[in-house]
Amino acid sequence: YRSQHQPRDNSMGLNLANDDQLRELAAALNTSGAGSWTAAPLAPGANPTGEKIAVTNPADRREVVGHWQAADTATVERALQNAVAAHAGWDATPAGSRAAILEHAATLLEARMPAYMAMCTKEAGKTLPDGIAEVREAVDFLRYYALQAREHFAPMPLPGPTGESNQLQLGGRGVFVCISPWNFPLAIFLGQVAAALAAGNTVIAKPAEQTNLVGYAAVQLLHEAGIPQDVLQYLPGDGATVGAALTRDPRVAGVCFTGSTDTARLINRALAGRESGAIATLIAETGGQNAMIADSSSLPEQVVKDVLGSAFTSAGQRCSAARVLLVQDDIADKVIHMLAGAMAELSIGDPGLPSTDVGPVIDEDAKAILVAHAARMKSAATFIAQARLGEGTQHGTFFAPVAWELPSLAALESEKFGPALHVVRWKADQLDAVVDAINATGYGLTLGIHSRIDATIDRIVSLAKVGNIYVNRNQIGAVVGVQPFGGQGLSGTGPKAGGPHYLPRFATEKTVTVNT
Ligand code: SER
Repeated sequence: YRSQHQPRDNSMGLNLANDDQLRELAAALNTSGAGSWTAAPLAPGANPTGEKIAVTNPADRREVVGHWQAADTATVERALQNAVAAHAGWDATPAGSRAAILEHAATLLEARMPAYMAMCTKEAGKTLPDGIAEVREAVDFLRYYALQAREHFAPMPLPGPTGESNQLQLGGRGVFVCISPWNFPLAIFLGQVAAALAAGNTVIAKPAEQTNLVGYAAVQLLHEAGIPQDVLQYLPGDGATVGAALTRDPRVAGVCFTGSTDTARLINRALAGRESGAIATLIAETGGQNAMIADSSSLPEQVVKDVLGSAFTSAGQRCSAARVLLVQDDIADKVIHMLAGAMAELSIGDPGLPSTDVGPVIDEDAKAILVAHAARMKSAATFIAQARLGEGTQHGTFFAPVAWELPSLAALESEKFGPALHVVRWKADQLDAVVDAINATGYGLTLGIHSRIDATIDRIVSLAKVGNIYVNRNQIGAVVGVQPFGGQGLSGTGPKAGGPHYLPRFATEKTVTVNT
């Protein structure tokens, strides 16, 4: 794949030191107070009837930021018919033309960063740095998949010994359903949709129920850029009704899903249970039980800085986030002491303030899971530290970052999606056992390594069954095009988002042989 070598710049993002951009951002954050944002199904010919549901700000539940309306059964049916009918035309549109629309959308998005950041803050509780990263990543996905489409979807001549003209052509599979998560409501939403569209599929997008407003704005952006209304449709609704209706429908050729491993299994069963229609493709990015390993040669200050960033950035609500720090016993006391000190300095509160380190968790359910986990840790673990909630947090769904020491990695139950870190000590002769324990979780998404010994790093890299390994840095924030992202085992099917093998998975291949 040559694309890795083609020129493509990643988005520069928004400069928080630029007063004009900050003013624009502040104005966008204030606008939301009117509760004016909306989301409703976008499917030509549909006339949805559902009630309008209020969306509240996770940082202050008293603030209504908008309303959304779910797709009903008739709308789902209409959207499927539209998507099937539109496929041939979209698939026949030259890949370069499809790519040009995505690139135009990237330009529009980049020019309006503050407005989209504000929405991510008000609906999903994103801090300002997270909002910048979110929009940048969305822009990068649009441009990256556009570039990939230009390259992969040009007919590939295959000269060879047959004496015939052989050519490989890639095309869309048909109707793709994109089911995206609330933790990256813009970046992952647009990444999935852009890839499916670039490859020549018509798309029905269903965002997570928590972030319908951002999803709606993203679809509007793509329509404005030139994606036809029947080529990309938007169906908000809950997974059990809208998601289930789509994934069991034989007209659907593929599903791109990011979310929990359990939901990926449900979707897989729904697709497999269909008695007609194509054998559907499932591209799933799921959970993790991500570890950071620090040996005695690592720098405690750097370990603490990087584990803090990996575990608590985005309130720990990244699938890449560190859940466990496995630290060699020689430096463990020092690291734990420094970690507790650093946690006391974290600022938790309004995500719209530049000084905030950690914002709210997404909703009451997410908070309840963390509270129940903390109650269990009281007897199962040794408490290390919990950060203090800041002023004004009583009206939001906040959970203060917390750390405990555990006797072993096996003592940790399933992934807890939030700012909860667990520390486990290991001894010099246990390096392989540590990696075995990580592999034994069955998850394989990110792994952090802190060491100054090359042989140790190489050993861990060779043994670990994970998708993304980060050495002597934090383990979040994969960059599109240069750090393709995605896991293995319970963490996902592959291919990696933002990597050279992603787009072909959304496509069919046709070999054309002409006897010349
Ligand atoms: N792609 C994100 C990251 O790398 C996680 O979903 O942090």
